[in-house]
Amino acid sequence: MASYDVIIIGSGPGGYVCAIRCAQRGLKTAIVEGRETLGGTCLNVGCIPSKALLHASHMLHEAEHNFATMGLKGKSPSVDWKQMLTYKEDTIGQNTKGVEFLMKKNKVDWLKGWGSIPAPGQVKVGDEVHEAKSIIVASGSEPSSLPGVEVDEKVVVTSTGALELGKVPKKMVVIGAGVIGLELGSVYARLGAEVQVIEFLDAITPGMDAEVQRQFQRLLTKQGLSFTMGAAVQSVAATKTKAKVTYKLRKDDSEHTVDADIVLVATGRKPYTDGLGLDALGIEMTKRGQIAADAHWQTNVPGIYAIGDVIEGPMLAHKAEDEGMAVADTVAGKHGHVNYGVIPGVIYTHPEVANVGHTEQDLKESGTAYKVGKFSFMGNGRAKANFAGDGFVKILADAETDRILGAHIIGPAAGDLIHEVCVAMEFGASAEDLALTCHAHPTYSEAVREAALACGLGPIHS
Ligand code: NAI
Repeated sequence: MASYDVIIIGSGPGGYVCAIRCAQRGLKTAIVEGRETLGGTCLNVGCIPSKALLHASHMLHEAEHNFATMGLKGKSPSVDWKQMLTYKEDTIGQNTKGVEFLMKKNKVDWLKGWGSIPAPGQVKVGDEVHEAKSIIVASGSEPSSLPGVEVDEKVVVTSTGALELGKVPKKMVVIGAGVIGLELGSVYARLGAEVQVIEFLDAITPGMDAEVQRQFQRLLTKQGLSFTMGAAVQSVAATKTKAKVTYKLRKDDSEHTVDADIVLVATGRKPYTDGLGLDALGIEMTKRGQIAADAHWQTNVPGIYAIGDVIEGPMLAHKAEDEGMAVADTVAGKHGHVNYGVIPGVIYTHPEVANVGHTEQDLKESGTAYKVGKFSFMGNGRAKANFAGDGFVKILADAETDRILGAHIIGPAAGDLIHEVCVAMEFGASAEDLALTCHAHPTYSEAVREAALACGLGPIHS
């Protein structure tokens, strides 16, 4: 039995970042992880492996579509799927080992095994019970199930199985046009699969700016994905090698079926709290199965905190990281802070999609007077040179004060460009502040400045 200032349960981006910050604050810290490797869903079966496959399949797309135009001749590359999976595994390995190194460097103990909380101030891992002044639950999330659909991770898969298919399928049906469905759907479409996305709602990527949703769907359709919208999947019947998906169209209740080699279920995730013993502790939960935490990430049981996907808010690695640092500061007696109004969202398709702050829909609903500054990447020299003119930057600013309220980008490097607006928003900047900032030419970031200029006198290049 060992005694710690803090024990963190879960080593995903929320947990491991929290552990490092606790160590930096001089707290004796341990992290509990039952997987073979650190890093949680994000590093092992989520963000990182999917980005490796997105990168590889994008390179294939470039070779097939743009190389000849640039004067790069030669046989188009073919897909060695086994090698692509090896590349993905290497990428995971480098990242998980990196986290292990960081734990050692910061003198954070890794308690190997699945943890539970037998009583406040105690964490049980295997047969050992450890003591901790503060316990932080960062146990993440798991794919949520769909009634009538049984996942076998072979033919009917979640994102986990979709990252290690035996081969590239001929036909893939994706249930759900959210982030996971579109990222992994575009990987397999680029690798040659026929991909059909079945979505319950009438627009893809729920909650996003409506103009971005429409443009995004158009571009993905151009890339070969097909969309069946307004359709509720009822059931999936699978054999060892095939599946039949039954769905109902909401407009007329008509029932349809479609055959597939692989069905990807991407209809959301739910908090993962199995085996922690939260019930017995009397920890309060929300109606959606999340741990109820207050503004300081404290649960109703003193000394037990929760962060990341197990509590409310967007299920995003970087949101969990921010909460990890903030709760570490809090338990160290400092003031932890997360600005929930400035948490970017990114979809790593090609083009990328990124957003921060309010959408036009939100602003209309709240009766806020706003103005829109928009600029197309067609007017950006760098984008044109790189075959990346599809998409736009849209900045929303307060009609009276010019303060930036939100930004929505679809286009090249959108996931990086959005951070310029995030920093501006953190400082309460106006669109004019962004417009007055010199931007290097030729860069994609000029499109952000042009959108900011469009909130004032107007952009230069359109
Ligand atoms: P999601 O919540 O983003 O999308 C699920 C979609 O499935 C919704 O559009 C919903 O309307 C649809 N749906 C639900 N039931 C259906 C049914 N019966 N038939 C047809 N459609 C149905 O969930 P997703 O994509 O699974 O992602 C889960 C979480 O992981 C999200 O919170 C997401 O933000 C996060 N994530 C973030 C990534 C990123 O930041 N790039 C990458 C991957 C995941």
